[in-house]
Amino acid sequence: MTRYSRITGTGSYLPPNRLTNAQLAADLAARGVETSDEWIVERTGISARHFAAPDVTSSDLGLEAAKRAIEAAGLQAADIDLIIVATSTPDMVFPSVACILQHKLGIAGCPAFDMQAVCSGFVYALTVADAMIKSGAASKALVVGAEVFSRILDFSDRTTCVLFGDGAGAVVLEASQTPGILASDLHADGKHVGILCVPGHVSGGQVLGSPLLTMDGKAVFKLAVAVLESAARATLAKAELTEADIDWLIPHQANLRIMHSTAKKLKLPLEKLIVTVDQHGNTSAASIPLALDEAVRSGKVKKGDTVMLEGVGGGFTWGAVLLKY
Ligand code: UT7
Repeated sequence: MTRYSRITGTGSYLPPNRLTNAQLAADLAARGVETSDEWIVERTGISARHFAAPDVTSSDLGLEAAKRAIEAAGLQAADIDLIIVATSTPDMVFPSVACILQHKLGIAGCPAFDMQAVCSGFVYALTVADAMIKSGAASKALVVGAEVFSRILDFSDRTTCVLFGDGAGAVVLEASQTPGILASDLHADGKHVGILCVPGHVSGGQVLGSPLLTMDGKAVFKLAVAVLESAARATLAKAELTEADIDWLIPHQANLRIMHSTAKKLKLPLEKLIVTVDQHGNTSAASIPLALDEAVRSGKVKKGDTVMLEGVGGGFTWGAVLLKY
């Protein structure tokens, strides 16, 4: 019998400190940085984001999301036999957030590792978990996207610091006799490293280079619009489906204009687009599982729906996962 993988539970968590554009603009004005609610909403669709307290880490946010996903799947933490965490803002240089999360969940023994593909991290992690389940290497995987991007923002750079937020999302992916993950399509092109990066690194007890995010927004925008369409089409072709089969499109939540453009290129009505960027900002690897969990819990995404997840971000990386929920 063919072995498939299927999402059986979702969960998410946002740190309680919610900052509206107006509040952020006032904080930035105090530093001599000028921005406005109008500019941020018009150019990005973002109205608010959540920032974690200084002592809260990606594993803390991931833990809350993971607990909710495990509960939604009707499992105990001890049932999990694989943990993958997608993050670019780990608690430490090493070990992985996945190992720290495993311990916080009170379990031990199962493989646990991080996936570094920036904002595409969750679709990368889900694809790897799917392959490990199909191969028989795992049966009940916990796949998490968790980020504290507020830690790496340059609050003197208005072109980036208004865009990002903190949060975590998680799914439990289980072996199944019926298809859940239908197809996926992953890519990277390292020649674009410089357009979105945190160039700093640790050497000899010091951070060499800037530890803050830098982005050529226009270049990222242009690439994102192109690759989100191609990844969706390639994934549909692998599954032998068409755009008309998509019930819900959940792209990486970075900019509403990019998301609308993707939906339009795929000829999908905007009612099929799940939008959380307005309330979360860009939470990088956490954005897709956060949006999926909200869509599931609000009753939009129902059992049997066909859902297209799409990631794009630093690397440059991009990819899509098509699934039956
Ligand atoms: O997760 C990874 C994926 N990342 C993304 O998808 C980001 C992709 N890029 C974008 O979302 C957009 O390029 C941005 C939102 C970053 C910028 O939007 P834009 O429409 O490309 O604006 P722009 O960079 O062309 O800037 C237009 C103007 C500039 O002023 P001048 O030169 O026209 O006088 C900027 O200085 O807006 C100015 N500006 C701002 N004004 C107020 C830039 N940032 C701000 C700001 N507040 N926060």
